[in-house]
Amino acid sequence: GPAMLTDRFSRLHTYLRISLTERCNLRCTYCMPDEGVALTPGGQLLTTPEIMRLARLFVSAGVTKVRLTGGEPTLRKDLPELVGALGALREQGLRSVGITSNGIVLGRQLPALQAAGLTAVNVSLDTLRPERFEVLARRPGHGRVMESIRTAVGLGYDPVKINVVVMRGVNDDEVPAFAALTREQPLNVRFIEYMPFDGNVWSDRKMVPFAELLSRIQSAFPGQPLERLDDPRGEVAKNYRLQGHVGSVSFITSMTDHFCGDCNRLRLMADGSLKVCLFGASEVSLRDAMRGGASDQDLAAIIGAAVGRKKAAHAGMHSLAAMPNRPMITIGG
Ligand code: GTP
Ligand code: 5AD
Ligand code: SF4
Repeated sequence: GPAMLTDRFSRLHTYLRISLTERCNLRCTYCMPDEGVALTPGGQLLTTPEIMRLARLFVSAGVTKVRLTGGEPTLRKDLPELVGALGALREQGLRSVGITSNGIVLGRQLPALQAAGLTAVNVSLDTLRPERFEVLARRPGHGRVMESIRTAVGLGYDPVKINVVVMRGVNDDEVPAFAALTREQPLNVRFIEYMPFDGNVWSDRKMVPFAELLSRIQSAFPGQPLERLDDPRGEVAKNYRLQGHVGSVSFITSMTDHFCGDCNRLRLMADGSLKVCLFGASEVSLRDAMRGGASDQDLAAIIGAAVGRKKAAHAGMHSLAAMPNRPMITIGG
């Protein structure tokens, strides 16, 4: 029951992020080191039946929202089947099955994923300039991402969320252009404060704080107030709308105003480790437990104990930059 998913701070964890693969068809600088990461051998990755067993267990304990991540989740071969199987958990209380994708091949797959029951689409896009995209993502493909976003809008996803990691001197000059995208399209453009992860050469200087983003947008749209909107419970963004725009802009302020107090998220890594916080190295292997013959009750006890160890904020660390963690690509955000 809910006991398994409630921590010492009375936070109920209703949102499970499932990383489906460590692989990616891009190489974003903020996500992975130049030299790449050592991939977990295939045999040590969760199989689809293992993922579904855990998803069922989490949903029966109170999870209402699942988000599929990676690496790049569309690289998983049986993605439509997996989305379909998750969709069937609606009767058990699952209300939302979302995906966070880089949009390189998403558009092509989206009609089938929607038919299988995919309810929400977030696309990562950090620049509107094709040549800059190749520097940031270290691969081509800007046009395909834009096309995937159009496809998602065309299929009725509303809003399609666009994740923009803002980096000073890299893409921060495009903040107003991103905000302008919301004028006529049902997009929610979300500016994300750059966060440190293993191997991503983060620096405090490159992080553009929320307050600065807000004032830069406001001064680029004089006479068009940025109106504060409601923030749905359990979501990480502060939401605004430029007066008169169809879409909205949001800010994910992980660095300057963390939202750990309302955290409702757990993360299942592709290798079967459960991570109770985005930050820190505290993990427990549900794969090893399952392959060692654990019953559902045993698994519930292991999950409950891990949730019970969750810290109040940021994995209990003062310096996120100095803290051991995984590279972002194997966490999935
Ligand atoms: P919605 O379900 O649409 O609200 O999406 P989401 O924001 O939960 O997920 P998404 O994969 O689009 O992530 C957007 C950004 O929020 C990424 O940069 C994530 O790393 C960040 N994020 C998500 N969850 C957390 C969290 O628990 N803590 C922190 N600090 N950042 C998070
Ligand atoms: N800081 C902030 N956000 C990040 N993401 C990936 N790496 C970072 C980082 N270092 C975001 C991507 C993706 C989401 C899952 O996480 O934009 O949309
Ligand atoms: Fe791939 Fe997303 Fe990481 Fe970019 S941010 S390398 S698209 S997983």
